[in-house]
Amino acid sequence: CGIVGYIGSNDAKEILLKGLEKLEYRGYDSAGIAVSNGEGVHVFKEKGRIADLRKIVDGEVFAPTGIGHTRWATHGVPSRVNAHPHKSASGRFTIVHNGVIENYDLLKKEYLPNEELKSDTDTEVVVQLIEHFVETGLDIKVAFVQTLKLLKGSYAIALLDDQNKEVIYVAKNKSPLLVGLGDSFNVVASDAMAMLQVTDQYVELVDKEIVIVKKDGISIETLDGKVISREAYTAELDASDIEKGTYPHYMLKEIDEQPLAIRKIIQEYQGQDGKLNIDPSIVEAVKDADRLYIIAAGTSYHAGLLGKQFIEKLAKIPVEVHVASEFGYNMPLLSEKPLFIFITQSGETADSRAVLVHVKELGYPTLTITNVPGSTLSREADYTLLLHAGPEIAVASTKAYTAQMAVLSILADVTAKSKGYEPEFDLIHELGIIANAMEVVFEEKEDIEKIATEYLATTRNAFFIGRGIDFYVGLEGSLKLKEISYIQAEGFAGGELKHGTIALIEDGTPIIALATQESVNLSIRGNVKEVVARGANPCIISMKGLEMEGDRFIVPAVHEMLTPLISVVPLQLIAYYAALHRGCDVDKPRNLAKSVTVE
Ligand code: G6P
Repeated sequence: CGIVGYIGSNDAKEILLKGLEKLEYRGYDSAGIAVSNGEGVHVFKEKGRIADLRKIVDGEVFAPTGIGHTRWATHGVPSRVNAHPHKSASGRFTIVHNGVIENYDLLKKEYLPNEELKSDTDTEVVVQLIEHFVETGLDIKVAFVQTLKLLKGSYAIALLDDQNKEVIYVAKNKSPLLVGLGDSFNVVASDAMAMLQVTDQYVELVDKEIVIVKKDGISIETLDGKVISREAYTAELDASDIEKGTYPHYMLKEIDEQPLAIRKIIQEYQGQDGKLNIDPSIVEAVKDADRLYIIAAGTSYHAGLLGKQFIEKLAKIPVEVHVASEFGYNMPLLSEKPLFIFITQSGETADSRAVLVHVKELGYPTLTITNVPGSTLSREADYTLLLHAGPEIAVASTKAYTAQMAVLSILADVTAKSKGYEPEFDLIHELGIIANAMEVVFEEKEDIEKIATEYLATTRNAFFIGRGIDFYVGLEGSLKLKEISYIQAEGFAGGELKHGTIALIEDGTPIIALATQESVNLSIRGNVKEVVARGANPCIISMKGLEMEGDRFIVPAVHEMLTPLISVVPLQLIAYYAALHRGCDVDKPRNLAKSVTVE
């Protein structure tokens, strides 16, 4: 979910709506704003997109203070009633909230036993509690703090009091929230991107702090009343990077930006001497570890699986890769000197952050690999490596995935050299080849679109197979396809399909097979034959030099360790065109959010 707030002299509505549009990637099943002008707080909320909300916002109301929210449902179905903002029973207080209040049921029973709630959300309990404490005679700030102290779970909150339009009350715990500073106005945002239209000066908030945001200033305090002073930083985001330009979809734009991102990564990680270079303290931390634990979710997890291959092959340090949401309670036996590497495009994924917090408590060193400087996981880890891929807006991750692999390969290469291993190949040169090869694939977009329509126009399911690193790319290809086209797509190790899943093969079932590895080229083709014999419709994507008759698409030859960076590109495009032809919303697939800030 995403939060915005504005307090100043201009009308808040348009600023809030624009901000919410920029935050839609965080969730888009419902949205709302509340604005205050001293004559009460007006709430507008609607199920669906910000565009739907816009239609019902009354242009007549002028209000210089307001808060807004775009929702990714956790408690309660997406609906107008469950959409934020939520009001307290008397209507005096209005709240927007991100996160999950784990003990909301208990709090309701204990403090509000007779209260009828309007929505099914945990959030409504919070605003009711604040009102409850105010009714017992407490000052609003004290009531707010009192409430926050009772909450278990995660929250980013912005609160309005309709008796005082001069203040927005703000607080956070685990969920991201920033305060932005302007000239005679101030703003609140889950992500600086949202309010870049009005300011690039932001103040970070730390867990368990509250902020009183007024037009002319802010004051930060801990829940225990300690006053905090903190400097603002300049958000180094280029507003034009977050525009779609002439592209019909962000996803296509971001796929096309991959060669640029790879070249930028080379540039950023190349030292004065022309060699690849990583902060020596990071290399030392990696070398010092006896085992690396990569923690990630979704596409970043798939990049981690390949990062393991790179690091083990070049730097010869054992690596385990874990899904963040599992690791938290199903921790493997750790080695003596582990280093934890968090791969996260957004730097905000709550599942990954929960592991980070836990392993920090255990005293282990941590490194975050992220696309977003200043993001929560970047701030909280000991070290950060940036992806330099530019903002990624489409929910389906593309350029961040290839950037993650590029940065992981650089980490592997630099660590290997620092351990004294002779480089097996010139990584800068090979990454340059990848960037060019990606452009060659783009020239074949029409053919890739044909593949999507031929194989995937009407199918119910599709399987991706590969061996070795092709298997991992297949996992990513299938995730891309399922998340945006809703075709049930699964990736399998070539040899494993016959141990069960082959039962699902019917006449015409599409099988997308990857053949980019010489050592397994013949065996993966053997697996394709097995499924063809049962009626499957094969689409083999191979690499120049390994191609055979009947292959459907051939990517240019690149170094065999780095093939995922090129073989994934046609898979991204296949997913894109399949979704397009099936009439799906490519950039905002149903039920998903780009950045999931709840566990
Ligand atoms: C969400 C997104 C996925 C993404 C995952 C991890 O589920 O929909 O596309 O891969 O989060 O995100 P992160 O920002 O941590 O890489």
